[in-house]
Amino acid sequence: MAVLQRPNRIEIDLSALANNAATIRNIVGPQVKVWAALKANAYGFGLEVVAKTVLDSGADAIAVGDVAAGVRLRQYGVASPILVYAGGLLTRPAADAAEAHGLTLTLPDLAAARRVSARAARTLKVFVKVDSGLERLGLDPADAGEQIMTIARLPRLVIEGLYTHLHVPPGCPPPYAQWQFERFDRVVTQVRRQGLEIPVAMAASSAVLSISRTMNLNAVDPGRLFYGLVPPGEALTAFEFRPVLTAIKTQLAQVKTLTRTEFVELAPYPVRSGMRIGILPFGRADGFNQINSGEVLVRGRRSRLLGDVAIEHARIDLTDVPDAQPEDEVVILGCQGTEAITVEDVAANQRYVGQADLTLAIGSDVERVYLRGPTAEGLPTAAGADARVDAWS
Ligand SMILES: Cc1ncc(COP(=O)(O)O)c(C=O)c1O
Repeated sequence: MAVLQRPNRIEIDLSALANNAATIRNIVGPQVKVWAALKANAYGFGLEVVAKTVLDSGADAIAVGDVAAGVRLRQYGVASPILVYAGGLLTRPAADAAEAHGLTLTLPDLAAARRVSARAARTLKVFVKVDSGLERLGLDPADAGEQIMTIARLPRLVIEGLYTHLHVPPGCPPPYAQWQFERFDRVVTQVRRQGLEIPVAMAASSAVLSISRTMNLNAVDPGRLFYGLVPPGEALTAFEFRPVLTAIKTQLAQVKTLTRTEFVELAPYPVRSGMRIGILPFGRADGFNQINSGEVLVRGRRSRLLGDVAIEHARIDLTDVPDAQPEDEVVILGCQGTEAITVEDVAANQRYVGQADLTLAIGSDVERVYLRGPTAEGLPTAAGADARVDAWS
Protein backbone atom coordinates (compact mmCIF):
# COMPACT_ATOMS: atom_id res chain seq x y z
CA MET A 1 0.00 0.00 0.00
CA ALA A 2 1.53 3.22 -1.19
CA VAL A 3 0.70 5.16 1.95
CA LEU A 4 2.70 2.73 4.10
CA GLN A 5 5.77 2.69 1.87
CA ARG A 6 8.62 5.18 1.83
CA PRO A 7 7.24 8.36 0.19
CA ASN A 8 9.08 7.95 -3.10
CA ARG A 9 7.35 8.52 -6.40
CA ILE A 10 7.87 9.18 -10.05
CA GLU A 11 5.25 11.22 -11.83
CA ILE A 12 4.19 10.09 -15.26
CA ASP A 13 2.25 12.39 -17.58
CA LEU A 14 -0.23 10.19 -19.42
CA SER A 15 -1.42 13.06 -21.63
CA ALA A 16 2.17 13.34 -22.91
CA LEU A 17 2.23 9.57 -23.49
CA ALA A 18 -1.06 9.76 -25.40
CA ASN A 19 0.27 12.71 -27.41
CA ASN A 20 3.41 10.80 -28.32
CA ALA A 21 1.46 7.70 -29.37
CA ALA A 22 -0.79 9.86 -31.57
CA THR A 23 2.28 11.57 -33.04
CA ILE A 24 3.87 8.24 -33.97
CA ARG A 25 0.62 7.17 -35.62
CA ASN A 26 0.54 10.47 -37.50
CA ILE A 27 4.16 10.07 -38.68
CA VAL A 28 3.77 6.55 -40.07
CA GLY A 29 0.29 7.04 -41.49
CA PRO A 30 -2.80 4.83 -41.27
CA GLN A 31 -1.46 1.93 -43.38
CA VAL A 32 1.48 1.07 -41.13
CA LYS A 33 0.85 -0.92 -37.93
CA VAL A 34 2.39 0.48 -34.74
CA TRP A 35 3.70 -2.10 -32.28
CA ALA A 36 4.67 -0.38 -29.04
CA ALA A 37 7.91 -1.87 -27.68
CA LEU A 38 7.10 -2.01 -23.96
CA LYS A 39 10.05 -4.07 -22.76
CA ALA A 40 11.25 -3.96 -19.16
CA ASN A 41 7.94 -2.96 -17.55
CA ALA A 42 7.47 -0.33 -20.28
CA TYR A 43 10.95 1.07 -19.66
CA GLY A 44 10.09 1.34 -15.98
CA PHE A 45 6.94 3.43 -16.47
CA GLY A 46 4.55 0.56 -15.66
CA LEU A 47 3.44 -1.98 -18.27
CA GLU A 48 -0.30 -2.10 -17.81
CA VAL A 49 -1.17 1.60 -17.71
CA VAL A 50 1.28 2.43 -20.50
CA ALA A 51 -0.15 -0.34 -22.70
CA LYS A 52 -3.72 0.85 -22.15
CA THR A 53 -2.82 4.47 -22.85
CA VAL A 54 -0.87 3.83 -26.06
CA LEU A 55 -3.49 1.42 -27.42
CA ASP A 56 -6.16 4.06 -26.76
CA SER A 57 -4.08 6.71 -28.53
CA GLY A 58 -2.68 5.26 -31.74
CA ALA A 59 -0.77 2.01 -31.22
CA ASP A 60 -2.17 -1.18 -32.74
CA ALA A 61 -0.29 -3.82 -30.80
CA ILE A 62 2.23 -4.39 -28.00
CA ALA A 63 5.63 -6.07 -27.90
CA VAL A 64 7.05 -7.24 -24.55
CA GLY A 65 10.25 -8.83 -23.30
CA ASP A 66 8.93 -12.12 -21.99
CA VAL A 67 5.91 -14.38 -21.80
CA ALA A 68 5.18 -13.32 -18.20
CA ALA A 69 4.71 -9.71 -19.32
CA GLY A 70 2.34 -10.86 -22.07
CA VAL A 71 0.29 -12.86 -19.55
CA ARG A 72 0.15 -9.80 -17.25
CA LEU A 73 -1.30 -7.74 -20.10
CA ARG A 74 -3.92 -10.36 -20.96
CA GLN A 75 -4.94 -10.56 -17.29
CA TYR A 76 -5.26 -6.76 -17.33
CA GLY A 77 -7.65 -7.01 -20.26
CA VAL A 78 -5.45 -6.09 -23.21
CA ALA A 79 -6.97 -7.72 -26.29
CA SER A 80 -4.56 -6.47 -28.99
CA PRO A 81 -1.90 -8.70 -30.59
CA ILE A 82 1.03 -9.15 -28.21
CA LEU A 83 4.46 -10.09 -29.52
CA VAL A 84 6.99 -11.61 -27.14
CA TYR A 85 10.41 -10.44 -28.30
CA ALA A 86 13.27 -12.91 -28.58
CA GLY A 87 15.33 -13.59 -25.51
CA GLY A 88 13.36 -15.88 -23.18
CA LEU A 89 13.74 -19.64 -23.25
CA LEU A 90 11.08 -21.27 -25.40
CA THR A 91 10.18 -23.97 -22.89
CA ARG A 92 7.03 -26.05 -22.84
CA PRO A 93 5.43 -23.80 -20.16
CA ALA A 94 6.27 -20.79 -22.38
CA ALA A 95 4.61 -22.48 -25.38
CA ASP A 96 1.59 -23.46 -23.25
CA ALA A 97 1.20 -19.91 -21.87
CA ALA A 98 1.56 -18.39 -25.34
CA GLU A 99 -1.15 -20.71 -26.59
CA ALA A 100 -3.46 -20.13 -23.64
CA HIS A 101 -3.16 -16.34 -23.79
CA GLY A 102 -2.86 -15.83 -27.54
CA LEU A 103 0.69 -14.46 -27.42
CA THR A 104 3.00 -14.45 -30.44
CA LEU A 105 6.42 -15.92 -29.72
CA THR A 106 9.63 -14.93 -31.51
CA LEU A 107 11.81 -17.64 -33.02
CA PRO A 108 15.45 -16.55 -33.21
CA ASP A 109 16.66 -19.59 -35.23
CA LEU A 110 15.74 -22.95 -36.69
CA ALA A 111 16.76 -24.93 -33.59
CA ALA A 112 14.40 -22.88 -31.43
CA ALA A 113 11.68 -23.30 -34.04
CA ARG A 114 12.10 -27.09 -33.90
CA ARG A 115 11.84 -27.08 -30.11
CA VAL A 116 8.68 -24.94 -30.12
CA SER A 117 7.13 -27.01 -32.88
CA ALA A 118 7.75 -30.17 -30.86
CA ARG A 119 6.48 -28.61 -27.62
CA ALA A 120 3.35 -26.87 -28.91
CA ALA A 121 0.10 -28.70 -28.31
CA ARG A 122 -1.80 -26.69 -30.94
CA THR A 123 -0.95 -24.22 -33.71
CA LEU A 124 1.04 -21.22 -32.52
CA LYS A 125 1.50 -17.84 -34.19
CA VAL A 126 5.18 -16.88 -34.37
CA PHE A 127 7.44 -14.12 -35.63
CA VAL A 128 10.96 -14.87 -36.84
CA LYS A 129 13.77 -12.47 -35.99
CA VAL A 130 16.60 -11.64 -38.40
CA ASP A 131 19.88 -10.18 -37.11
CA SER A 132 20.76 -7.49 -39.67
CA GLY A 133 23.71 -5.88 -37.91
CA LEU A 134 23.24 -5.72 -34.15
CA GLU A 135 25.03 -9.09 -33.83
CA ARG A 136 22.58 -10.22 -31.20
CA LEU A 137 19.50 -12.43 -31.45
CA GLY A 138 18.14 -13.65 -34.77
CA LEU A 139 18.92 -15.44 -38.01
CA ASP A 140 21.93 -14.55 -40.16
CA PRO A 141 20.55 -12.75 -43.24
CA ALA A 142 22.91 -14.80 -45.41
CA ASP A 143 20.73 -17.90 -45.15
CA ALA A 144 17.68 -16.56 -43.31
CA GLY A 145 15.45 -17.06 -46.36
CA GLU A 146 16.10 -20.81 -46.49
CA GLN A 147 15.79 -21.17 -42.72
CA ILE A 148 12.47 -19.35 -42.70
CA MET A 149 11.12 -21.59 -45.46
CA THR A 150 12.14 -24.63 -43.38
CA ILE A 151 10.50 -23.16 -40.27
CA ALA A 152 7.33 -22.55 -42.27
CA ARG A 153 7.09 -26.28 -43.01
CA LEU A 154 7.36 -27.33 -39.34
CA PRO A 155 4.13 -28.58 -37.77
CA ARG A 156 2.02 -26.31 -35.54
CA LEU A 157 3.84 -23.05 -36.43
CA VAL A 158 2.30 -20.22 -38.43
CA ILE A 159 4.73 -17.41 -39.32
CA GLU A 160 2.84 -14.13 -38.89
CA GLY A 161 5.78 -11.78 -39.18
CA LEU A 162 9.48 -11.10 -39.66
CA TYR A 163 11.35 -8.40 -37.78
CA THR A 164 14.79 -7.05 -37.11
CA HIS A 165 16.33 -4.45 -34.81
CA LEU A 166 18.89 -2.31 -36.62
CA HIS A 167 22.13 -1.12 -35.08
CA VAL A 168 21.84 2.69 -35.20
CA PRO A 169 24.60 4.27 -33.09
CA PRO A 170 24.56 8.05 -32.55
CA GLY A 171 25.78 9.72 -35.75
CA CYS A 172 25.04 6.52 -37.69
CA PRO A 173 26.29 6.88 -41.28
CA PRO A 174 23.16 6.57 -43.48
CA PRO A 175 24.74 3.86 -45.70
CA TYR A 176 25.31 1.69 -42.61
CA ALA A 177 21.61 1.78 -41.63
CA GLN A 178 20.63 1.32 -45.27
CA TRP A 179 22.91 -1.74 -45.63
CA GLN A 180 21.28 -3.41 -42.63
CA PHE A 181 17.78 -2.51 -43.77
CA GLU A 182 18.43 -3.97 -47.23
CA ARG A 183 19.79 -7.21 -45.77
CA PHE A 184 16.47 -7.62 -43.95
CA ASP A 185 14.30 -6.41 -46.82
CA ARG A 186 15.94 -8.93 -49.20
CA VAL A 187 15.02 -11.77 -46.82
CA VAL A 188 11.38 -10.59 -46.69
CA THR A 189 11.24 -10.29 -50.48
CA GLN A 190 12.87 -13.68 -50.99
CA VAL A 191 10.41 -15.63 -48.82
CA ARG A 192 7.42 -13.75 -50.21
CA ARG A 193 8.59 -14.67 -53.74
CA GLN A 194 8.63 -18.28 -52.66
CA GLY A 195 4.96 -17.98 -51.80
CA LEU A 196 5.13 -17.47 -48.06
CA GLU A 197 2.63 -14.95 -46.81
CA ILE A 198 4.28 -12.53 -44.33
CA PRO A 199 1.57 -10.30 -42.84
CA VAL A 200 4.01 -8.23 -40.75
CA ALA A 201 7.50 -6.98 -41.74
CA MET A 202 9.08 -4.65 -39.18
CA ALA A 203 12.48 -2.95 -38.90
CA ALA A 204 11.93 0.54 -37.46
CA SER A 205 12.67 1.28 -33.81
CA SER A 206 12.83 4.89 -32.53
CA ALA A 207 16.36 5.42 -33.85
CA VAL A 208 15.34 4.26 -37.34
CA LEU A 209 12.27 6.54 -37.35
CA SER A 210 14.58 9.40 -36.30
CA ILE A 211 16.85 9.04 -39.30
CA SER A 212 14.58 7.88 -42.11
CA ARG A 213 11.03 7.60 -43.45
CA THR A 214 11.89 4.88 -45.94
CA MET A 215 12.34 1.92 -43.63
CA ASN A 216 8.83 1.62 -42.18
CA LEU A 217 7.72 -1.39 -44.27
CA ASN A 218 4.20 -2.29 -43.06
CA ALA A 219 4.90 -2.09 -39.31
CA VAL A 220 7.17 -0.24 -36.88
CA ASP A 221 8.12 -1.01 -33.26
CA PRO A 222 9.48 2.06 -31.47
CA GLY A 223 9.93 2.10 -27.69
CA ARG A 224 11.55 5.20 -26.25
CA LEU A 225 9.73 7.61 -28.61
CA PHE A 226 6.56 6.89 -26.66
CA TYR A 227 8.20 8.47 -23.60
CA GLY A 228 9.30 11.57 -25.50
CA LEU A 229 12.90 10.40 -25.78
CA VAL A 230 13.81 11.30 -29.34
CA PRO A 231 17.09 9.85 -30.67
CA PRO A 232 19.27 12.18 -32.76
CA GLY A 233 18.32 12.58 -36.43
CA GLU A 234 16.54 14.84 -38.88
CA ALA A 235 13.39 12.85 -39.67
CA LEU A 236 11.40 13.76 -36.52
CA THR A 237 12.41 17.37 -35.90
CA ALA A 238 9.07 18.71 -37.18
CA PHE A 239 7.03 16.65 -34.70
CA GLU A 240 6.18 17.37 -31.08
CA PHE A 241 7.13 14.70 -28.57
CA ARG A 242 6.59 15.53 -24.89
CA PRO A 243 8.47 14.12 -21.88
CA VAL A 244 6.40 11.54 -20.02
CA LEU A 245 8.66 11.47 -16.96
CA THR A 246 7.88 14.77 -15.24
CA ALA A 247 9.21 14.32 -11.71
CA ILE A 248 11.02 12.09 -9.24
CA LYS A 249 10.19 13.03 -5.66
CA THR A 250 10.59 12.04 -2.05
CA GLN A 251 10.09 13.74 1.35
CA LEU A 252 12.43 14.56 4.19
CA ALA A 253 12.47 11.76 6.78
CA GLN A 254 14.51 13.69 9.37
CA VAL A 255 16.10 17.12 9.74
CA LYS A 256 18.83 17.68 12.28
CA THR A 257 21.84 19.70 13.37
CA LEU A 258 25.20 17.95 13.73
CA THR A 259 27.16 18.42 16.96
CA ARG A 260 30.22 16.30 16.23
CA THR A 261 33.55 17.72 17.35
CA GLU A 262 35.59 14.52 17.70
CA PHE A 263 36.95 12.18 15.02
CA VAL A 264 35.77 14.78 12.55
CA GLU A 265 38.29 13.59 10.00
CA LEU A 266 36.69 10.10 10.07
CA ALA A 267 33.14 11.33 9.50
CA PRO A 268 31.38 9.77 6.46
CA TYR A 269 31.50 13.16 4.71
CA PRO A 270 33.02 16.53 5.62
CA VAL A 271 31.04 17.75 8.66
CA ARG A 272 30.96 20.93 10.74
CA SER A 273 29.48 21.29 14.18
CA GLY A 274 26.16 23.08 13.77
CA MET A 275 25.66 21.81 10.22
CA ARG A 276 21.99 21.32 9.18
CA ILE A 277 21.33 18.13 7.27
CA GLY A 278 18.31 16.26 5.99
CA ILE A 279 17.85 12.52 5.51
CA LEU A 280 16.04 11.27 2.40
CA PRO A 281 14.36 7.85 2.43
CA PHE A 282 15.63 7.27 -1.13
CA GLY A 283 18.73 5.18 -1.74
CA ARG A 284 20.68 2.85 -3.98
CA ALA A 285 17.87 0.27 -3.99
CA ASP A 286 15.64 2.97 -5.48
CA GLY A 287 18.20 3.69 -8.20
CA PHE A 288 19.43 6.93 -6.62
CA ASN A 289 23.04 6.41 -7.66
CA GLN A 290 22.04 6.44 -11.32
CA ILE A 291 19.41 9.18 -11.25
CA ASN A 292 20.87 12.01 -9.18
CA SER A 293 22.27 15.29 -10.40
CA GLY A 294 24.30 15.77 -7.21
CA GLU A 295 21.60 18.13 -5.90
CA VAL A 296 17.91 18.08 -4.95
CA LEU A 297 15.34 20.83 -4.44
CA VAL A 298 13.83 21.61 -1.03
CA ARG A 299 11.54 24.62 -0.50
CA GLY A 300 12.54 25.80 -3.97
CA ARG A 301 16.26 25.87 -3.13
CA ARG A 302 19.15 23.64 -4.17
CA SER A 303 20.66 21.29 -1.65
CA ARG A 304 23.67 19.08 -2.39
CA LEU A 305 24.05 15.37 -1.61
CA LEU A 306 26.45 14.47 1.20
CA GLY A 307 28.59 11.34 1.19
CA ASP A 308 27.71 8.00 -0.32
CA VAL A 309 24.15 6.94 -1.03
CA ALA A 310 23.02 4.13 1.31
CA ILE A 311 20.69 1.25 0.41
CA GLU A 312 17.52 3.14 1.34
CA HIS A 313 18.79 6.56 2.40
CA ALA A 314 20.80 9.58 1.39
CA ARG A 315 21.80 12.81 3.16
CA ILE A 316 21.60 16.38 1.98
CA ASP A 317 23.12 19.65 3.15
CA LEU A 318 20.37 21.98 4.38
CA THR A 319 22.70 24.90 5.22
CA ASP A 320 20.95 27.04 2.61
CA VAL A 321 17.46 25.82 3.55
CA PRO A 322 17.35 26.55 7.31
CA ASP A 323 13.53 26.50 7.35
CA ALA A 324 13.34 22.90 6.00
CA GLN A 325 11.07 20.60 8.02
CA PRO A 326 10.53 16.83 8.17
CA GLU A 327 8.02 15.68 5.48
CA ASP A 328 8.93 18.58 3.17
CA GLU A 329 8.79 17.61 -0.48
CA VAL A 330 12.19 16.87 -2.05
CA VAL A 331 12.53 17.02 -5.83
CA ILE A 332 15.19 14.78 -7.34
CA LEU A 333 14.10 15.57 -10.88
CA GLY A 334 11.52 18.14 -11.91
CA CYS A 335 10.46 21.64 -10.86
CA GLN A 336 9.93 23.27 -7.49
CA GLY A 337 9.23 26.99 -7.17
CA THR A 338 11.37 28.67 -9.80
CA GLU A 339 14.09 26.00 -9.76
CA ALA A 340 14.32 22.89 -11.93
CA ILE A 341 16.49 19.80 -12.14
CA THR A 342 16.38 18.42 -15.66
CA VAL A 343 17.20 15.08 -17.28
CA GLU A 344 20.23 16.85 -18.78
CA ASP A 345 21.39 17.84 -15.26
CA VAL A 346 21.21 14.19 -14.22
CA ALA A 347 22.99 12.98 -17.37
CA ALA A 348 25.76 15.54 -16.79
CA ASN A 349 26.40 14.00 -13.35
CA GLN A 350 26.34 10.40 -14.57
CA ARG A 351 28.75 8.42 -16.66
CA TYR A 352 26.55 5.66 -18.00
CA VAL A 353 22.92 6.69 -17.75
CA GLY A 354 21.35 7.60 -21.08
CA GLN A 355 17.97 9.31 -21.00
CA ALA A 356 16.17 6.06 -21.79
CA ASP A 357 17.91 4.34 -18.89
CA LEU A 358 16.71 6.78 -16.24
CA THR A 359 13.37 5.18 -15.50
CA LEU A 360 14.86 1.72 -15.99
CA ALA A 361 17.14 2.51 -13.05
CA ILE A 362 14.32 3.52 -10.70
CA GLY A 363 13.55 0.76 -8.19
CA SER A 364 10.26 -1.10 -8.26
CA ASP A 365 9.39 0.15 -4.73
CA VAL A 366 9.19 3.71 -6.04
CA GLU A 367 5.52 4.43 -6.65
CA ARG A 368 4.47 5.18 -10.23
CA VAL A 369 1.94 8.01 -10.08
CA TYR A 370 -0.03 8.62 -13.26
CA LEU A 371 -1.12 12.19 -13.90
CA ARG A 372 -3.56 13.64 -16.40
CA GLY A 373 -4.80 10.35 -17.84
CA PRO A 374 -7.17 10.51 -20.79
CA THR A 375 -9.74 8.41 -18.94
CA ALA A 376 -9.98 6.42 -15.75
CA GLU A 377 -12.96 4.42 -16.91
CA GLY A 378 -12.49 0.71 -17.25
CA LEU A 379 -9.02 0.87 -15.78
CA PRO A 380 -8.50 -2.24 -13.70
CA THR A 381 -5.93 -2.30 -10.93
CA ALA A 382 -2.52 -3.10 -12.40
CA ALA A 383 -1.73 -6.72 -11.59
CA GLY A 384 1.43 -7.01 -9.54
CA ALA A 385 2.00 -3.27 -9.47
CA ASP A 386 0.93 -0.84 -6.81
CA ALA A 387 0.12 1.78 -9.38
CA ARG A 388 -1.89 4.79 -8.26
CA VAL A 389 -3.82 6.95 -10.65
CA ASP A 390 -3.87 10.57 -9.54
CA ALA A 391 -5.85 13.39 -11.03
CA TRP A 392 -7.45 11.54 -13.90
CA SER A 393 -9.71 14.04 -15.57
C1 LIG B 1 13.55 -5.84 -31.18
C2 LIG B 1 13.35 -4.46 -30.65
N1 LIG B 1 12.56 -3.60 -31.31
C3 LIG B 1 12.35 -2.35 -30.86
C4 LIG B 1 12.95 -1.89 -29.69
C5 LIG B 1 12.67 -0.47 -29.26
O1 LIG B 1 13.83 0.30 -29.30
P1 LIG B 1 13.75 1.88 -29.02
O2 LIG B 1 13.35 2.06 -27.62
O3 LIG B 1 15.13 2.35 -29.25
O4 LIG B 1 12.77 2.42 -29.98
C6 LIG B 1 13.78 -2.76 -28.98
C7 LIG B 1 14.43 -2.28 -27.75
O5 LIG B 1 15.42 -2.76 -27.28
C8 LIG B 1 14.00 -4.06 -29.47
O6 LIG B 1 14.80 -4.93 -28.83
